[in-house]
Amino acid sequence: MKVVAFFMLALVLAAPAFGKTFDRCSLAKEMYALGVPKDQLARWTCIAQRESSFRTNVVGPTNSNGSNDYGIFQINNKYWCQPADGRFSYNECNLSCNALLTDNIADSVKCARKIQKQQGWTAWSTWKYCNGALPSIDDCF
Ligand SMILES: *[C@@H]1O[C@H](CO)[C@@H](O)[C@H](O)[C@H]1NC(C)=O
Ligand SMILES: *[C@@H]1O[C@H](CO)[C@@H](O)[C@H](O)[C@H]1NC(C)=O
Repeated sequence: MKVVAFFMLALVLAAPAFGKTFDRCSLAKEMYALGVPKDQLARWTCIAQRESSFRTNVVGPTNSNGSNDYGIFQINNKYWCQPADGRFSYNECNLSCNALLTDNIADSVKCARKIQKQQGWTAWSTWKYCNGALPSIDDCF
C-alpha cells in the first residue's frame, strides 16, 4: 500500500511536467493577458472546455483522414503545425505541434486566433455548443 501511495504521489507531483489544466477563469485571465479581447473570452473558454477539458497536453484521437489535433484548442496537424514525425503539413502557424502541448499557451492562443480570423469560429466542430448565449465572463475579472 505504501508503495502504491508513493507512486500516486509521484504521479501527482510529476503531472505539471506533462501540461497544465486550466479552468474557465484562469484561462480567461491568461488569454486576456495575451491580448485576446474580453468580448471573445466566453467563446474561447467554451471551445477550450469542449475540445480539451482545458488541458494543454492533449493529442486527440486520430481523425478519419489520418490527422491529429493538438493542445487546449485541438489544432489540426495537417494545416496549422508541423508534426514531429516530419509528415507533410501546411504548417500555417509555423510551429511544431508539440509546442501546442506545453504549459505556456501563448503559441496555442496565437495559432487559434489566426485560424479564427481565417476560417471563423466554425473551424471548431464544437462551436455548435458555444455559439449561443454563454454565461458572462465578467465574474472572472
Ligand atoms: C481532417 O479531419 C479533421 C477533423 O475532422 C479536420 O479538422 C481537418 O480539416 C481534416 N483535414 C483534411 C486535410 O481533410
Ligand atoms: C518560422 O519560425 C522560425 C523559427 O522557429 C523562423 O526562423 C522563421 O522565420 C519563421 N517563418 C515564418 C514564415 O514566419
